[in-house]
Amino acid sequence: MKRFAKVIGTGGYLPATIRSNEDISKRVDTSDSWIFERTGIKTRRIAGPEETAASMAEIAARQAIEMAGIEAGEIDLIIVATGSPDRVYPSTGCILQHRLEIQQCVAFDVQAACSGSIFAMSIADQYIKSGAADKVLIVGSEICSRLVDWTDRGTCILFGDGAGAVLLESTDEPGVLSTHIHSDGGFEDLLYCPNPQVATASGKDEKGVIHMRGNEVFKVAVNTLGRIVDETLAANNLDKSDVDWLVPHQANTRIIAATARKLKMSMDQVVLTLENQGNTSSASVLLAFNEAVRDGRIKRGQIVLLEAFGAGFTWGSALIKY
Ligand code: UT7
Repeated sequence: MKRFAKVIGTGGYLPATIRSNEDISKRVDTSDSWIFERTGIKTRRIAGPEETAASMAEIAARQAIEMAGIEAGEIDLIIVATGSPDRVYPSTGCILQHRLEIQQCVAFDVQAACSGSIFAMSIADQYIKSGAADKVLIVGSEICSRLVDWTDRGTCILFGDGAGAVLLESTDEPGVLSTHIHSDGGFEDLLYCPNPQVATASGKDEKGVIHMRGNEVFKVAVNTLGRIVDETLAANNLDKSDVDWLVPHQANTRIIAATARKLKMSMDQVVLTLENQGNTSSASVLLAFNEAVRDGRIKRGQIVLLEAFGAGFTWGSALIKY
């Protein structure tokens, strides 16, 4: 019998503190109108001092577990996507496992920057399809606000904090139809965040903050995401019109609109969260997916295209029959 991974639960968490464009324009030379017109962002959430990637992941994960109606102890594998882990090690996945009071399962992190949730979904799908796991929890959780240089107007306007989760279970009916992930390490200098301790120890004078050549990243992102749409549809022998929903990584409305145009989709079929969340890196796709599942926009049986692009560069997609 053919095995598929099916979504049985979703969850999401956003910290309470809201930071508006006006707040940011008091720190750096920018304005609400510039930020909104160039990015689509108005506000983003900022984690409290006591919060961590694992603490936010726990809240999102518990929601997904509750929606699925299973016990946490039934989970075979936890994959956390994060670029802002609680510690270098143990992994945030292990910390989350302990917080969920699970003793037996395997837990680890994936580091694929903003594409992390898609990479996590792809790994989960392989484990389920191969029979190595039955129930897999994937979480994207990020405290981007602690990696941002709040004096750099080219980056501090973009990022926010939050966590999204999806619980997948093996089934014999199509769920995840295909995943496609890619990496090209040749673009390291366009978007990176140094590990400050390692940089200092090796004599480099680099701050442990996000460095980005935004306009160059923008152009590669638009072209690459256009290609991943073609690759995903071709692999499934589907037409653009077969896709009901686009759930994109939330980096910039202009990038998202370009992908929607490529799919000949109206923006009404695109799940947009960035206006009030900003770019939450590996959490963004799962947060958007959770929102549209919970508010009833995404319905059982519909075809949903998830896609992301991030540092590395990394990029990928997942086509799901929800
Ligand atoms: O999530 C992972 C992947 N990341 C992304 O996909 C991010 C991709 N990049 C972007 O979203 C956009 O490139 C940004 C929003 C970061 C910047 O928008 P842009 O339209 O590419 O602007 P730009 O960098 O070409 O800069 C245009 C002008 C420059 O001024 P001059 O040289 O024309 O005088 C910048 O100095 O805008 C200026 N600028 C700003 N002005 C006001 C840059 N940032 C700001 C700002 N406020 N915050």
